[in-house]
Amino acid sequence: MKKIAILLYFMIAIAVVLWGAGSQDGAEHSALPVPPLLEGEKLTLVMQEGTLALPMGTSKTMGFNGNYLGPTIRVSNGDLVDIEVQNTLKEDSTVHWHGLHVPAEYDGGPHQVVEAGSTWNPVFQIDQKAATLWYHPHLMGKTAEHVYNGMAGLFYIEDDYSKNLSIPKEYGVDDFPLVLQDRRLDRNGKFSYKPGMRDVMAGYIGNIILVNGAYEPYLDLKKGTYRFRVINGSNSSIFRVRFSDERKFTVIASDGGFLPESVEIPEFIISPGERYEILVDFTTPGNISLMTDIYGGDSFKSMDFNILKEEGKFYPHPGSFNYTPVVYNEPANIKRNFRMETRGMSRFTINGKSMDINRIDFSLEKNSTEIWTIENVGMGMMNIAHSFHVHDVQFSVISVNGREPGPLYSGPKDTVLVMPGDKIVIALRFKDYTGIYMYHCHFLEHEDSGMMGQFLIE
Ligand code: C2O
Ligand code: CU
Repeated sequence: MKKIAILLYFMIAIAVVLWGAGSQDGAEHSALPVPPLLEGEKLTLVMQEGTLALPMGTSKTMGFNGNYLGPTIRVSNGDLVDIEVQNTLKEDSTVHWHGLHVPAEYDGGPHQVVEAGSTWNPVFQIDQKAATLWYHPHLMGKTAEHVYNGMAGLFYIEDDYSKNLSIPKEYGVDDFPLVLQDRRLDRNGKFSYKPGMRDVMAGYIGNIILVNGAYEPYLDLKKGTYRFRVINGSNSSIFRVRFSDERKFTVIASDGGFLPESVEIPEFIISPGERYEILVDFTTPGNISLMTDIYGGDSFKSMDFNILKEEGKFYPHPGSFNYTPVVYNEPANIKRNFRMETRGMSRFTINGKSMDINRIDFSLEKNSTEIWTIENVGMGMMNIAHSFHVHDVQFSVISVNGREPGPLYSGPKDTVLVMPGDKIVIALRFKDYTGIYMYHCHFLEHEDSGMMGQFLIE
């Protein structure tokens, strides 16, 4: 009798374990969502409220043309793009084209408020090389909240060069965007933006990772070479990105387009707003996870790749690409210094000043090249990471702490991570447009707390 009871107990226990595992891997995980493409001469982006259902709970969100995130806008160099932005939210917002070279009046920064219920119609001609860029709100003091709620999307530029490269380029087939974001779930499995004092300084760090708005999604792929365009779409988390089997992959592009030389590495660090494009070969069937570690925090499995037995297409990984650095002239070009400083729990300054929309921090001349030195200064407790993002341009990194930049910083950039004590020198070329543009820390809690300034191109 007793033996049968024990046996029954074990059978039930095993059944419970199997049931649990089954429901986790079957019902709860979804296939990787791939944002729809938005193409053509006239594009419409609707800012709207929505909800996002995760296995743990349903959150209130905001998105573009949908519940969460937005479509991937894809254009070609030279295109005239006409975008109608409709704000159906109950509050004001803006849409900034991060990394794009566009006229100041269409930049979508804090000066181009799209009031609740109104529309905004930027029209601009694309004049830059192939790149993985993105768009997101940029309202004074509200950027962090709006992005956190889900308002962000990708903006791809292609050109003759990228279209003729022999690399994976079929959207959603062998070329996938991976928008990595951390979100902080509460006890009810929902996320919402309610930063406390500490979150402003340390960043609103999450306890789960979403990929394209899904929790631990999976992607079934044939054997072959794949291209992933990775963006850190989080508010303030620095990520280390790698595969569970520590495999090497090839980085081919950074923020503003292709690198001069591709880089083979097993992991990279990516700060908020930065992008990397990678090529990965999946040669054997099985399961591999993408790991996302929050710098100084937890390590997460962010998604699964299920490699099937079927044979797909393999591509050789190109070794070098066409890249033109910003040409600068060390003694002749104007030099500027930017001291980024944490002065208190919620006081962040650049050159001692907090953002003031009524103050132009400096002016420069159109068609000029400048050399900027960015320093993260601070002491003891106030020694925390920042980043530096400039609107209007893709810049070249000249040096990091007196040395040549590493290979990942050798291509076109619009955002750089500036760790405590770092000193980064960049060269920027301002052409075509006049008007007001922003520069700021892309840790959104810092940006909203004043770590931003504006320059006028005359
Ligand atoms: Cu991605 Cu000023 O922003
Ligand atoms: Cu910062």
